[in-house]
Amino acid sequence: MSPTLLPAAPPGHGSEAASIAAERRWAYIVIVIIALLILMMVFTGLRWASMPPSRVETVDIKRLHVEGEFVESNLGSTMEPDGKVTVRLIAQQYSFVPQCIVVPAGMPVTFRGTATDAIHGFIVGRTNVNTMLIPGFVATFTTTFSRTGEHLMPCHEYCGTGHEAMWARVQVLPTAEFLSKARGGERLNCVPG
Ligand code: CUA
Repeated sequence: MSPTLLPAAPPGHGSEAASIAAERRWAYIVIVIIALLILMMVFTGLRWASMPPSRVETVDIKRLHVEGEFVESNLGSTMEPDGKVTVRLIAQQYSFVPQCIVVPAGMPVTFRGTATDAIHGFIVGRTNVNTMLIPGFVATFTTTFSRTGEHLMPCHEYCGTGHEAMWARVQVLPTAEFLSKARGGERLNCVPG
């Protein structure tokens, strides 16, 4: 800012000159702060755009139903050989597969999911499970359910005219009950029939 923009203090008005100087000083400070904020925005924006997120896992949607992790017989909950519980699911217009998911209480559960057609997402009841499912990408989410019970699991990304009717159920079983069912390594779900 050029000093000529502000009126010069008339002679004999010392206090006015002081206040104009203070005003000018604060104007410079504010300009420096704004410039710093803009620089920070530019720097972080460029940095985020130039680096990939920490973890990107892709999957071929055309082969999804035919081979690999997300074939229908592999969906549902399972106890991995290392003792961890994984839930694999697929979202499509307008349902989740499986429609009913079983998980144990009191131990970490990892959801691995993807979508076949549009962007979907899900939350599980009032737990912290909340993720988007994007075609071509595998979303993962690990959580521990503290209590047994049943939760609704609605799709929370608008995915088309049937969006409101797209939801699944999650049954949280006592740890021992889940473990006895999962011991054989098969894929579990609670879809009736
Ligand atoms: Cu799927 Cu909304």
